[in-house]
Amino acid sequence: MPLSKDNKNGGLGNEEDFKFDHLRKDDFDEVLDLLRKYFVPYEPINLGLGSTFPDKKEFIENYVTQSINCGLSMGTRTKEGKLIGVSLPDIERKGKVVEGTIPAPKNNVVRHTVEILEHMTNNYDVFQKQGINEILYYAVVCVNPEYRGNNINGKMTKIVEQKAIEKGINVAYSICTGIKSQASFKRNGYVTVYETPYKIFDFLNLTSMGDNTSIKLMVKKLK
Ligand SMILES: CC(C)(COP(=O)(O)OP(=O)(O)OC[C@H]1O[C@@H](n2cnc3c(N)ncnc32)[C@H](O)[C@@H]1OP(=O)(O)O)[C@@H](O)C(=O)NCCC(=O)NCCS
Repeated sequence: MPLSKDNKNGGLGNEEDFKFDHLRKDDFDEVLDLLRKYFVPYEPINLGLGSTFPDKKEFIENYVTQSINCGLSMGTRTKEGKLIGVSLPDIERKGKVVEGTIPAPKNNVVRHTVEILEHMTNNYDVFQKQGINEILYYAVVCVNPEYRGNNINGKMTKIVEQKAIEKGINVAYSICTGIKSQASFKRNGYVTVYETPYKIFDFLNLTSMGDNTSIKLMVKKLK
């Protein structure tokens, strides 16, 4: 039975009800299916652009492949084995941010998404400002709506951070596109270092983005 929306931290919300594990190549199709159902139709930039999954398929596949290959990706499963959450981070190195490795945008939806993300990284150079050469970056995070509000994202984040520390990474960042992800990362120690209102991007339909009025670049020192 899924968690009731007003039953926060009750029912299946206990830590022992979920299994957290790294994602493997075999999980690829299941991860894409989760993102098709629960990322594209909910994530604020996709709402503002009216994106469909086919528009974003190649873009998302690229992130999933890169993240699984980097060995830091995390999945959350129910006791029955159903995939209900993913955290898809990557390690970015100075001069080689993840967006730069994405194949040339094939449509406006992808082009505009990259434009917004690059606006953030161009205005806040994480490497220069944090005095580092590599950084943990959360490219995509997603939790099945029936299980949201239980800090599942935070629990995955904690495990990812620990693995990153073992690889010698000292700082992490996320470009949080909406109030839910901003609240989640804030609760887990991430601090806003740069914020932009969505109204500066004339190609976004702000009405379809609801209460999500700004995008935040959020940083955490891991040690
Ligand atoms: C962002 C996301 C991964 C957060 O995952 P999560 O495990 O639910 O995170 P949290 O439990 O920390 O909840 C985050 C916020 O969601 C809200 N929330 C609480 N209960 C909720 C529920 N039942 N359903 C939906 N949102 C809820 C709250 O604002 C909460 O913050 P608060 O507890 O500080 O008030 C999830 O909302 C999601 O998949 N969103 C769609 C995809 C997306 O936008 N990804 C982020 C792109 S940067």
